[in-house]
Amino acid sequence: MNVNVGNHQHPISQVLSEEMKSHIEENYSVTKNLEDRQLFYSFPCDQNIGLWDWTKNIYRENLHQSGNSLEIGAGMGNFWDEEFLAELLKRGSVYITDSSQAMVDKCKECSLLQKNNVVIELENACKLRYENCRFSMLLSHFMMYEVSSIETALAEASRVLKKDGIALFLTSPKNFFCEFYEAMEEFDSRFKNMLLNRKIHRFNDETAPELLSRYFDEVTEKVYEVSHYVTWQHPKGKSGAQVALDRFRSLQVIKESKIEPELWPEAAKYLEMKIREAGEKGWRIRNNRVAFLCKSPK
Ligand SMILES: C[S@@+](CC[C@H](N)C(=O)[O-])C[C@H]1O[C@@H](n2cnc3c(N)ncnc32)[C@H](O)[C@@H]1O
Repeated sequence: MNVNVGNHQHPISQVLSEEMKSHIEENYSVTKNLEDRQLFYSFPCDQNIGLWDWTKNIYRENLHQSGNSLEIGAGMGNFWDEEFLAELLKRGSVYITDSSQAMVDKCKECSLLQKNNVVIELENACKLRYENCRFSMLLSHFMMYEVSSIETALAEASRVLKKDGIALFLTSPKNFFCEFYEAMEEFDSRFKNMLLNRKIHRFNDETAPELLSRYFDEVTEKVYEVSHYVTWQHPKGKSGAQVALDRFRSLQVIKESKIEPELWPEAAKYLEMKIREAGEKGWRIRNNRVAFLCKSPK
């Protein structure tokens, strides 16, 4: 099987501006950060349908034409499954892109993505090298709050999308994870101010609609409601408190903070207390997500 990676390899320096490189390199040059975050989502939850399946249904219900698809900021390619990829490949080529070489490499290693007409490449969402109206569908999942300029990335998304194409932007609501953040603030008041500076505020359920309406005529919001239950032991065997804490420590604002290392074992104990207090089902953390379905690029 062939991995179609385009006919050129782009060193990261050609794709990213200097200003962006340090941030992306720090956060996404290794995939551990994202792995820590994703482990949290396999705690038991109260939704029957997984977030990715829910998202795929939105695409299925709204994509009524053939053409190429583009995912920006694809990370490790976790969104994809055999069935959905096959559905899109019937319509055209599928471009899976990210501005981090480590993420692109992970996607290339994934056997599921090693197909003809699947193009995996390094691509900066703020400076796409595709011509206007190249795609019928654009996928942007939990990445818009990461880019150096949201306005530039949205202008690019709108530019490469066909007039009757669709774009979906997934993000988190302002108050997602609030029970968890409140606990961390109770544990140590320094976390209060740090959390105010989270990147998610740049593109959440409050800030995204206005930004999106500058680049798309039709913007519809859909909400995925879910709570996760942090249990004493995570389903994959690790301590539940530790998985939750690793999720917290993967936040950029926390990684940048000068928290003394001795604090983390104490924080784990505090979270263990929260889990014990919560009872058998586990400690409930609301974890809703929002999807903005955009049509009619301006
Ligand atoms: C939180 S991860 C989300 C990954 C994946 N979409 C998911 O939902 O699992 C954000 C991703 O956006 C990528 N990213 C950040 N800035 C970017 C940019 N300017 N262009 C393309 N990708 C970018 C990061 O490298 C990272 O893989």
